[in-house]
Amino acid sequence: MRLFLDTANIEHIRHGVRLGVISGVTTNPSLISREGKVDYQKLVKEICDIVPGPVSTEVLSQDASGMINEARQVAKWADNIVVKIPANLEGVEATSVLSKEGIKVNFTLCFSLNQALLGVAAGASFVSPFVGRLDDIGEDGMKVVEDIVKFLRFYQLPTQVIAASIRHPQHCMVAAKVGAHIATVPYKVLLQMIQHPLTDIGVKRFIDDWTRVMKD
Ligand code: G3P
Repeated sequence: MRLFLDTANIEHIRHGVRLGVISGVTTNPSLISREGKVDYQKLVKEICDIVPGPVSTEVLSQDASGMINEARQVAKWADNIVVKIPANLEGVEATSVLSKEGIKVNFTLCFSLNQALLGVAAGASFVSPFVGRLDDIGEDGMKVVEDIVKFLRFYQLPTQVIAASIRHPQHCMVAAKVGAHIATVPYKVLLQMIQHPLTDIGVKRFIDDWTRVMKD
């Protein structure tokens, strides 16, 4: 399973890339707005320069023709742009047109296998089930990820599943177990993934033992 960062924060993206474990970035209008009143195009282009892989950014239009026009413009910003299109009827139509033009689509805000089926049929390169938001309403978000992965495997389809709306390290482990191609994680979760108290205790004990005997 590959890891993407789910953020528009340049410092966090630079750190993730420097660690050598981040191969893509996903953004959305909420994440972009967290960075303040920025020049949207400039920020996304900067992210695309830093990241050695796909960078998803979302359209704001609500109707298919608006989504298509917006996506065509955004797709010109960089070679690694992926356009996020919402998993509704207008989005299905837009995805069908854009995928035929070779524009990569991340079919986002996906909450069911049926929505994913339509996104895949329309030619989306990625589908993004939102795990945390399903868990929030008492559903099993990871089961939806698992179902989509099984469906894609069964029919040997090339669309990749991005487990999104990841809230904690447990989500990452389960996403890997159910076979998600990618988990897109907030920076905070990336930092939490490496934490283990026994590692810290072990490092300290090694240094203490070494120092006690070797210090003179
Ligand atoms: O990748 C989707 C993500 O940004 C949504 O996360 O925590 O707002 O549900 P969240």
